[in-house]
Amino acid sequence: MNKIVRKEQFSEKVFLFEIEAPLIAKSRKAGNFVIVRVGKKGERMPLTIAGADIEKGTITLVVQMVGLSSKKLCALNVGDYVTDVVGPLGNPTKIENYGTVVCAGGGLGVAPMLPIIQALKAAGNRVLSVMAGRSKDLIILEDKVRESSDEVIIMTDDGSYGEKGVVTVGIEKFIEQEPHVDKVFAIGPPIMMKFSNLTAQKHNIPCEVSLNTIMVDGTGMCGACRLTIGGKTKFVCIDGPEFDGALVDWDEMFKRMGTFKREEQEELAHYEE
Ligand code: FES
Repeated sequence: MNKIVRKEQFSEKVFLFEIEAPLIAKSRKAGNFVIVRVGKKGERMPLTIAGADIEKGTITLVVQMVGLSSKKLCALNVGDYVTDVVGPLGNPTKIENYGTVVCAGGGLGVAPMLPIIQALKAAGNRVLSVMAGRSKDLIILEDKVRESSDEVIIMTDDGSYGEKGVVTVGIEKFIEQEPHVDKVFAIGPPIMMKFSNLTAQKHNIPCEVSLNTIMVDGTGMCGACRLTIGGKTKFVCIDGPEFDGALVDWDEMFKRMGTFKREEQEELAHYEE
C-alpha cells in the first residue's frame, strides 16, 4: 500500500499525485515507469514517473482520467492509499551529451519528458523544449520545464497560450533556428509522436519516442504490449518503452491502442451508472 501525500489538479481531467514509494524513488531513472493498481481487482495502469524525491521517499505521477482505472485513481485524495505500485520498470532513457536536443512533449507527455529534460541538461546538452497542448489549461509543469531548458516554445491548438499550432511547428522552428540539432525526443499521444518523428526524419535527425501501449503485467509475460519495431516483434514493457521513431510500425500501434476501447467504455458506463 502506498500513501498519497500530495494531489494537485492541473485541469478538469489531469491530476498530479505524489505517492510514497521510497525504494522506487531511490532507484528510478529518467524514462522508467511504474504499474499502479487501485483496488485488489483493479486493472494495472502503466504510468511514467515524472519525478522523485529521495529524501521524502516519494515519486510523482501525472494521471489523466480516460477510463475506469484512471478515474478510480483520480478519485483518491491525500491520505488515501494506492493498492500497489510496481517498479521502476522499463529501460531508462539513454542519456549522454548529444549536443543540441529538441524535447517535444504533447499534452500529458510533458510529465514523462520532464525527467528526461533534466537529465539531458545535467549531461551538458543544449536543451530546446516544445510544450504542446490543445489549450492553455493543458500545458502542464511549465516552470519545471523552463528551469532545465535553454529555450522553450509553447504551442496550443487553439492559440489560447504561446503560439497557435501543433507540436511539429515548434520542432521545425528549433531545427531551423539552430546550426545543428543532434536528436529529437518526443513523448505524447501516438499521432503526435508519429508526426514529430516524420519532422525529424525530414531533416535526417534521429527521433526517440516513448510508447504508451496497453500493458498488463509489465514484465514481458502477457504480450499485451507487443509491437513491430524494425520488422521484429518487441515488448514495449521490457524492450522499451523508448524506441527509434523511424522503426515503429505506427499503423499497428494505432490499431493496438484501439483494441480495448469498447470494453473500456462499457466498463466506464457501468461505473457511472
Ligand atoms: Fe505484458 Fe509487456 S505488458 S508483455
